[in-house]
Parts: sequence; C-alpha cells; structure tokens
Amino acid sequence: MVNPQLPQFPEPIWRDHLSLPSFPALNESIKADVGIVGGGITGITAAYVLAKQNFNVVLIDAGPVLNGTTGHTTAKITAQHGIIYDELINHFGLEKASLYYEAAEEAKKFIEDTVREKKIKCDFSKEDAYIYTNDYSYVNKLEKEKAAYDKLKIDSKLTDKIPLNFPVKSSLVMHNQAQFHPLEYLKALLTDGLKDQLRVFENTTATDIEHNKHTSIITKDGHRITCNYVIAASHFPFYDSQGFYFARMYPERSYLLAGKSPEKFAGGMYINAESPTRSIRSAKIEGEEMLLIGGENHKTGQGKSTMDHYEALQTFALEHFQMERIAYRWSAQDLTTLDKVPYIGPITKGEPTILTATGFRKWGMTSGTIAGKLLADHILEKDNAYADLFTPSRFQADPAVKKFMEINADVAKHMIKGKLEFTQNNVADLATDDATVTRIDGKRVGVYKDKEDSIHMVDTTCTHMGCEVKWNSGDRTWDCPCHGSRFDYTGEVIEGPAKKALSKIHSNK
Ligand code: FES
Repeated sequence: MVNPQLPQFPEPIWRDHLSLPSFPALNESIKADVGIVGGGITGITAAYVLAKQNFNVVLIDAGPVLNGTTGHTTAKITAQHGIIYDELINHFGLEKASLYYEAAEEAKKFIEDTVREKKIKCDFSKEDAYIYTNDYSYVNKLEKEKAAYDKLKIDSKLTDKIPLNFPVKSSLVMHNQAQFHPLEYLKALLTDGLKDQLRVFENTTATDIEHNKHTSIITKDGHRITCNYVIAASHFPFYDSQGFYFARMYPERSYLLAGKSPEKFAGGMYINAESPTRSIRSAKIEGEEMLLIGGENHKTGQGKSTMDHYEALQTFALEHFQMERIAYRWSAQDLTTLDKVPYIGPITKGEPTILTATGFRKWGMTSGTIAGKLLADHILEKDNAYADLFTPSRFQADPAVKKFMEINADVAKHMIKGKLEFTQNNVADLATDDATVTRIDGKRVGVYKDKEDSIHMVDTTCTHMGCEVKWNSGDRTWDCPCHGSRFDYTGEVIEGPAKKALSKIHSNK
C-alpha cells in the first residue's frame, strides 16, 4: 500500500465544512462600553458574558475571527495540562495548585452548561484524559503527579495500560474530561452575543491604546474605539505598556495532522510525558471519524525545517494507526509564562481598565474560557476566586528568576547568531515554492519564489527588536527566533509582538 501523502498546504480541520459568519472592517471611529481585541476563545467568551449583561461590546480581529490559535487547537477541554500539579504544589503550595485545578474544572463546566442550555451542536463528549510514557525516567514523574492528584482529590488512576493499540510503561488517567468542535461552539456564542449588544469587525488591526479623557483603541487605519475597558485577547498582547510581556514568555510551535485510520478509535484523549510530544484524540467531521495527531513542539524560528516535524508525525501516525488518508495538516503557536500559569488580569498594576489574557501554554480551551469569565467579572466588579492566582503583575522568585534568565539568554544568543550568519545563496538556483536568505547590496534579504515563480523579497531583520527571522517551510512564513513574531512571505505581520511589516526589498539584480 502507498503511504498517504501530507497535504501540500496547511489547513486546520476545524474550519473545513464550517460556514462562519463574516463581518465588515471598521471604517469609522465608534464608542463602546468594552473594546475587545482578538476573536478567539477568550475574546468571544468575554464578549458573550458581557453582552448578556447589557454591555455594549465591540470585538475586533486583525483577520477573520476564529482563525488564530483557537482555530488551530486540539480542542481538549481538560484540567490535565501535562505534568503540572506536582510542580505547582512545590512552587505555589497546595491552595494555589488547587485553585488552578478548580479554574480548569469551572471552565469545563461553563462550556458543558452552555452547550446544554443553548443546545449547541459541537460534538461535545465526555472523555478520559491520559498522560502516558514509554520512557522509564518518566514513570517516577507520573507517580509523583498521581500523588499530587490525590492531594488535590482529582478523580484519577495510575495504570500500565491505555485503550490504544500500543504498549505503555505507565499512564495517569484523569476521568471525566471532555472534547468538542471548538469553532461550532464559539460560533454559537458569537451568534448569541450578536442578538444582544455585540458588534464585530474583522480585518481590523489594533495598533495602540491612547489614554485621554477616555481610553481608545487605535486601529491601523487610524480609527478609534473609545471605551471604558479594553480586553487585549490577541494571543500576544497588542499593547505592552510597561508589562514586558516579550521578556516574560517564550513562544513554541507545534504541529497537527488529521486523517482516516481503518481502525475504530477506542476513545479518550492522550498526550505523552516525554519529548517529542505526541497528542492524540479523534473528532467527527461531516459524520466521518478523523484521528488527530499532534506534537513536535519547538521554540519558534529555531531548529530543523518545519516540514520535518510534519513528517515525524506522519511516521508516528502510520506506525501506530495505519492511516489510509491524511486530509489535514496545520500548526499552532503557544506562549508559556515564567511560572507556566497564564497571565490574566490588568495588563499592568497601574492600568486597571486595560486587561489581558495570554500565556496559556497549550491549554487554551480551559484557560481561554476562564480568562473570558475572569475578565468579564473584573468589568462587572464581581469577585473572582482566581484573580490573584492569574494576575499578570505577580512575581514568584522561584521559578520566575531562573526562567527569565534562560529565556533572555536564549534571545541574546539568537540575536547575535543571526547577525553573524553569513549567507550568500544564489537566488537563481531557488526552486519554485522555496525560500532562501542571501545578501543584496550588503543587506540580509529573505527571498521566496512562489508557485507562479514570482519572487518576494523582504529585509530579514525583525521589526520588533532586530533579530533575524528564519524561513518556516511548513507554513511559508518568516518566524523570529527571539520572541516569536511571524510574518507572511510578503512581510506582513501574522503574529506579534512585532507590529510593523518586514521591509519589502526591490532589486534589479
Ligand atoms: Fe522580538 Fe523578533 S519578535 S526581535
């Protein structure tokens, strides 16, 4: 049998066969009670909750809504966020570790209740979540994690079997977790919010915030949204103030495939403990069972060719599930904070009306939902039990200091390395749909030859803080190894912290 090929272009499974409403771009200055930047799970959940409370809410997104990290997720609704609870108890104590767990459980309950009340057709199903290992050095870590689960009274079991058709050395099961189709769910929330006082604008990029008598979000086209509160739910906050978020988080990319296996899937959601990561679940698309296999995370803009990561997942999928078709491949970017706990709350101590939510690692379905609720509570002036745990202005010396040094030493290394790399590749040798870095008039230039053999050239110096971007062959983007900004092949910003496009280069050579 011929092995199934990887699709030529990335496309997440969730957007296929789904009709999403479209919205106009903002073309005038307007007023609202709350301005939300970012149409993913955090922004839409907050908009939904606030619109229900008669708040006049405006939500904008730089592209189409639900096309950022939320549209590229594995969509597991679980409090099992990898091996985390033993570490949280050690760093924060039992009480805060317990709050972290309760926050994820509350998010799961909110989603489940909303699905039931609104009768949302999003394939919500209860599943057990497993962390498994085939590496002896992780068996002990899973035992410690199980002890942490017991202290937190989490319904769980340690076993040496999983329902899938391959052996494991150990596995930790968290019972009663869930999965769904994230975009069907969020589409329903969005549609519901529109019946109240929610307005949505797409292709509207927020670039800054101005504080005068009122606070205004400034858009790239020069329009303003004047409001009492701003929620920056744009994955990387579009407004940093003096929060130094770029120095307090690191970005990682990971990869996913979805396809058809001849075997019926046994149910459950899985992730291994060791590297490289393998994440497994199934999903129904148009009535057909698809297997989702993800993993291969690495720091953005660093390491081997991105297509190699897809190929490694393809090999795993064929070996363990005999895939007969791979219909989708896509990738995602995740941000991790210094202590692995998301930043949710006022962007800085001095700006209580500018709120943000970021750094969800890979667990955005629960963290994004709790963020939407917590930020809405802040605006509604309601107490929220998780506000202190997630506040972005917290500082916990252990592990923050060590991680801060590690992240920023890595940035410094890549900043210097990129400048020293000597490249003089010949553009004439470039294949169709490939890219290289060369020097033109002494300047480092990234060159991409598209499928029609047109050449696109950009200055490879990142507009955020000057690191040199690297080509991402899987997504056809230029990615920055320092803080994870990403640019399309024409140089336009896909993901911050950069706000300005890479300079386009025109050459007669
Ligand atoms: Fe900071 Fe590129 S993202 S230098």
